[in-house]
Amino acid sequence: MSKKIASARITESSSQLLQELNNSLPFDKVLYREDIEGSIAHAYMLAEQGIISKEDYAQIEKGLVEIYEEVKSGEFLLDGDDEDIHMAIEGRLTQKIGDAGKRLHTARSRNDQVALDFRLYVQKNTQKIANLLLQNIETLLNVANENVETLLPGMTHLQHAQPINFAYHLMAYTSMFKRDYERFMSSYERNNYSPLGCAALAGTPHPINRKITAERLGFKAPTLNCLDTVSDRDFALEILFNISTMMMHMSRLSEELILWSASEFKFVQLSDKHATGSSIMPQKKNPDIPELLRGKTGRVNGNLVALLTVMKGLPLAYNKDMQEDKEGVFDSVRTALLSLEVLNEMIDEMTVNVEQMNQACMIGHLSATDLADYLVKEAGIPFRDAYHITGHVVNMAEEKGLDISELSFDELKSVDKRITEGVVELLDNRASMNARQSEGGTSSIRTQEQIDALSSWLESQK
Ligand code: ARG
Repeated sequence: MSKKIASARITESSSQLLQELNNSLPFDKVLYREDIEGSIAHAYMLAEQGIISKEDYAQIEKGLVEIYEEVKSGEFLLDGDDEDIHMAIEGRLTQKIGDAGKRLHTARSRNDQVALDFRLYVQKNTQKIANLLLQNIETLLNVANENVETLLPGMTHLQHAQPINFAYHLMAYTSMFKRDYERFMSSYERNNYSPLGCAALAGTPHPINRKITAERLGFKAPTLNCLDTVSDRDFALEILFNISTMMMHMSRLSEELILWSASEFKFVQLSDKHATGSSIMPQKKNPDIPELLRGKTGRVNGNLVALLTVMKGLPLAYNKDMQEDKEGVFDSVRTALLSLEVLNEMIDEMTVNVEQMNQACMIGHLSATDLADYLVKEAGIPFRDAYHITGHVVNMAEEKGLDISELSFDELKSVDKRITEGVVELLDNRASMNARQSEGGTSSIRTQEQIDALSSWLESQK
């Protein structure tokens, strides 16, 4: 039966079942540090404003710092029947320092308290995730730098399409992770306002100063409207969305690593650290790690949809439904941090099979588009006709069991007299890759340009 320090109205103790449903302490205890930070800032402001005495503040601060140490060392386990982390810490404080502890909650409600704690948590982890993204970008840039000349079949519909280079492919992912990083940072800026002092929903008659607490807690300013602030969970939805999008990118890269590790491709080899064996098939080396990154993306998407659904019908202001906001965010944050660390290590330690990638470019007539483009440019043939002539060339190559880059000039010319000698060089896969010199294209020079641009951007973020 719970003590209910938070109720003046309710005389009966709560039932065990109510506690099990109602109490958030088992999961919101991870917010103990944010709760203590917030309470110290709040008490400091109360004393500055003459709402509590300096002596009370001194005792509150000392008590809270001690509680922080107790939790950290495992002496205070946060496993009691308190309703949540806020009640647990306030209860412990009052136990330690008596009346001064009871003054801490002046001009505050758990509604602004939880909005603050959760926002501090989200802001802190937004930074952590953003930093790990930068690390991943750096690692991808390193691998890209070494592979500007590594030919790779570019694909659409998972069918060989045009020759590109491996660095170019990696730069596509690097670009995605840069946008992800920017999304986290812009969320950080947008949400960097303090909820503290909003009280239950409408502010407080006490002469508080929200600027003092905002500044002490590292926020840009207090939020504008209290009713919005205690009802708002956009900041949590933003981190969930940002994580989902980032994990979706990571999942696509993982999917490619899985494919590329298969015997049919053999483009990369993951280090033994990132693969596992089979319990029955002794020869197996399975890409479990990228598979898990791909799989975990499902979980984080679920967390996003769950919170969107919780929030969608709630009237203003706080409703207990909102206590459901935390577990999904904690889960997604944990997943994002771990996944980013693993991805970074995996990319850093994988082996790139340059020869295998180059070899794969000899399948699928990758330079067919070059032949069509050439017929348009050199012979003035309308593109649609050039497209069909090229189709005939491809068929001929297929019949001979060759790639079109292996056909001789005479063979090419037998399909259409307008084909001239210069085309043979153009059909070479490397030439074809390097011919795509338009801005953002795959030529080695353009790829290097992209690597350099992202490298200097990365430097500017440090
Ligand atoms: N444990 C609650 C939560 O996580 C704290 C806020 C409770 N406020 C209230 N008025 N019941 O949302």
